[in-house]
Amino acid sequence: MRKVLAGNWKMFKNRAETTAFFKDIGSQLKSSAPRKIVAASPTLLETAVKAAEGTGIEIFAQNCHWAESGAFTGESSPAQLKDVGVRGTIVGHSERRQFFGDNDETVCKRAQAALAQKLAVIYCIGESLEQRNAGQTAALLRTQLKPVIEKILPALGDGDFTLAYEPIWAIGTGVTATPAQASEAHTLIADELKKAGFTRTAILYGGSVKPNNFKELASLPHVAGGLVGGASLAAADYLALHVCL
Ligand code: PGA
Repeated sequence: MRKVLAGNWKMFKNRAETTAFFKDIGSQLKSSAPRKIVAASPTLLETAVKAAEGTGIEIFAQNCHWAESGAFTGESSPAQLKDVGVRGTIVGHSERRQFFGDNDETVCKRAQAALAQKLAVIYCIGESLEQRNAGQTAALLRTQLKPVIEKILPALGDGDFTLAYEPIWAIGTGVTATPAQASEAHTLIADELKKAGFTRTAILYGGSVKPNNFKELASLPHVAGGLVGGASLAAADYLALHVCL
């Protein structure tokens, strides 16, 4: 399976910083595998699409709405994202679920709408520390995977769909899942998909991925690469992450 480095810039950078990032990347990325992605804020997308030309990096949004257009203040539709040259979008990031009310139902709708417009999707799942400590991780992951298995994958066709396992307690905390913890979760996810007949979905790990731990994480079975926040912001780190794959 093709390895993936996906940066999630969250609500960071202005346009000048965005242009500078891609200028620093220049032609230093390997032109073939792995797949390289940066997901940026709506205000940066057009700039990023232009600045990323020739670097081999695909520009993604961090969220999208399920309607084509309409009275949905603060949202962007898949058609609007395509209009600025975006190739895909993250959906269901835990920060969206935690602060903006996204849930399994709305995340699934966002993914379906994006895929229908031929946008690629990175679909995030993962447990909180409380859920992990209460022994609920496996049950929670199965619940979060249900719409993926029942609605998205059966209708996927040649759609471009990637999962990201991001334990919430590891996001932005500097605490990375141990290889054993990541392995256990990724194997569970891969097994659930396999039971339903799906064996080709890439599963990224996310949560305090850094250049010094990425190689080990990305070499685990069922880990196709990483969804990386903080360490994707500096071009030097992005380059260092990319050579881990
Ligand atoms: P982090 O964020 O790498 O800064 O922990 C990961 C993410 O939220 O996607």
